[in-house]
Amino acid sequence: MTTMASTKPPKIIEFDQAFVKIGRTLILKDISFYTREREILGIIGASGSGKTTCLRVMTAQLKPQQGSARIAGHDVKKEAAIIHYATGYVPQHETESLYFPFSALENAHFFGRMYGITGKEIKQRAVELLTILGFDEDLMYKPVKFLSGGERKRVSICVGLIHQPPILLLDEPTTGLDAHLRHELLNYLKQLNYHYGTSMVLISHDLEVVEYCSRIVLLERGEISLQGHPDELIRSLTGRGEAIEVTFDRLTEATIRQVEEIPFVETTIRSGRGSLKIFVEEPHKRIPDLLEALRDRNQSPQEMSVVEASFYDFFRTKSWIAPLPSVESVS
Ligand SMILES: Nc1ncnc2c1ncn2[C@@H]1O[C@H](COP(=O)(O)OP(=O)(O)OP(=O)(O)O)[C@@H](O)[C@H]1O
Ligand SMILES: [Mg+2]
Repeated sequence: MTTMASTKPPKIIEFDQAFVKIGRTLILKDISFYTREREILGIIGASGSGKTTCLRVMTAQLKPQQGSARIAGHDVKKEAAIIHYATGYVPQHETESLYFPFSALENAHFFGRMYGITGKEIKQRAVELLTILGFDEDLMYKPVKFLSGGERKRVSICVGLIHQPPILLLDEPTTGLDAHLRHELLNYLKQLNYHYGTSMVLISHDLEVVEYCSRIVLLERGEISLQGHPDELIRSLTGRGEAIEVTFDRLTEATIRQVEEIPFVETTIRSGRGSLKIFVEEPHKRIPDLLEALRDRNQSPQEMSVVEASFYDFFRTKSWIAPLPSVESVS
C-alpha cells in the first residue's frame, strides 16, 4: 500500500504543554495547540482568561517556564529576535501602536524604518496595504487623530504588516466597533489573509469572529477548554450539525420542559421569539416522530424544518463552558 504525502501546510504556531507564570502567579496552564500556515486562528475567552498573555508568548515577550512555544519554527525561549521579525502585532489600543499627529503613511514610514526597510519600499507597501484596507489617497495623508476608530484600527494593521511578517497577531481587533464595522474589519483581514497568505491570530471575547476563523481555541481561566475547526465542533453535536427548528404559537418555559422530556430529544435552544432548535439524532428522519410526540403533549407547531446548527448553538449547548459576554446577548 502506498501512502500519500501530506499536503497540509506546515504548523506555523505550536504550543506544547506550555505553563506561563507572571511573578508567582500561574497564568497559562498546560497549553497545547497549533495553527498551520495561512490559517486564521481565533483565541476566544472571557476577560482575564489569558488571551493577551498567550499573544505575548507568541511575540516572545513572555516565555513559558515549562513546555514550549514555537513561532514560525523558532523557539520563543531561544530566538526572540527572529520572532520579532516573523510577527506583526496589532495591539488592542491604537495609542500603543500609532503616532496620532502623523498620517497613516507617516506612521508606516516611522515603523518601517525600524525594520530597515527603504523609504521607497515602505511607500509602495503601505499604499498597497492601505488600498486593500479601503483607504483612498486623501485618507492616507490625514493625521491619525482625525480618523475614526475603524480607520485607526486599519492603520494599525498596515503598520503591523509593513515588514511583511508571515504571522499577524491581533489583540481584540473588533472591540469598540459597531456590528457593521466589526464585520467590515474582519472582511478586510480575510482579504489580507487571502492576498498575502498571512497566518493570523485573532483574539476576541466575542463569538462573532468564529465564522472568520479556520481553527479556534477556547480559553477558560488560563486553560484550553475546547479547540478545533468550528465546523468540526458543530458536527460533534447531536444531529451532526443539523437540528429541527420548531415554531410554536406560544413558547413558554413549560413548553420547553415538555419538549426536553421527549425521550429522543437531546437538548433544545431558543432560536427566536417563538421558535426552538431541537437537537436529535438524524433530524430528517425524526420529524414525524417529533410531530407525534408534540401532538401527544397538546402542542401543534406552526412550522417545522431541519436547519443548520451554528457555532452560537454549539456554544450554548455546552453549558459547562463559562458564558462569554456576547453569548448572553444573542437572542
Ligand atoms: N503583568 C501581570 N502581572 C500580574 N498578573 C497579570 C499580568 N498580566 C496578566 N495578569 C493576569 O493574568 C490573567 C490573564 O490576563 P490576560 O491579560 O492574559 O487576560 P485576557 O484574556 O487578555 O483579558 P481581557 O479580555 O480583559 O483583555 C489575569 O488574571 C491578569 O490579571
Ligand atoms: Mg487582553
